Amino acid sequence: MKIFLDTADLSEIRRAADAGLIDGITTNPSLLASGAGDREPAELFREIAEIVDGPVSAEVVATETPTMVEEGKRLAALHDNIVVKVPLTEAGLRACRQLRDTGIRVNVTLCFSAVQALLAAKAGATFISPFVGRLDDVGQDGIELVAEIREIYDEYGIETEILAASLRHPKHVLQSALIGADCATLPPKVLYQLLKHPLTDVGLERFLADWETLGRDL
Ligand code: E4P
Repeated sequence: MKIFLDTADLSEIRRAADAGLIDGITTNPSLLASGAGDREPAELFREIAEIVDGPVSAEVVATETPTMVEEGKRLAALHDNIVVKVPLTEAGLRACRQLRDTGIRVNVTLCFSAVQALLAAKAGATFISPFVGRLDDVGQDGIELVAEIREIYDEYGIETEILAASLRHPKHVLQSALIGADCATLPPKVLYQLLKHPLTDVGLERFLADWETLGRDL
């Protein structure tokens, strides 16, 4: 499963990319609002795409197809790594089809049902982003949605990649991987939570204490 970082924070992106832990980046307008600082959005997207050797999702903010397509083309022209993100609305799916017809990769976002995911695939989506945590927030089972999409896409040989999004904790990541999501996007906090296990810390402490008793250098 590919792991993407869900952030527009350059220092977090550099940290994870330098460690070789991520395959791409997703952003959204809210993340831009909190992470762009003084930078122009286009400049920030270009910088992120230079750092990360993989897809970088940049979202349109228009709500009508022609302006979505216009924004999408401008975003895609910034760097080869840019994937244009459009919302799962009728206008968004029309924009998806038009962008795909010009060879631009599209991530269809804000997916909350398997039938929405089916339509996104029809519109040529490169990625579909089911929002797991936000469904859990309203008392539904977000992971079940990822499972349903997997089943449908496999049944019909659909190549759109499932990008599990809005993941809030390591269990969401584990479940997405077990179901066979193609990618998962995680906030930095969740990425580093994946690393942690109390037995790793205790084990390392014991190894180092035992080594000290030897009184030698390696
Ligand atoms: C995905 O592309 C979205 O940016 C993101 O995963 C949304 O997560 P949230 O529901 O925690 O805001």
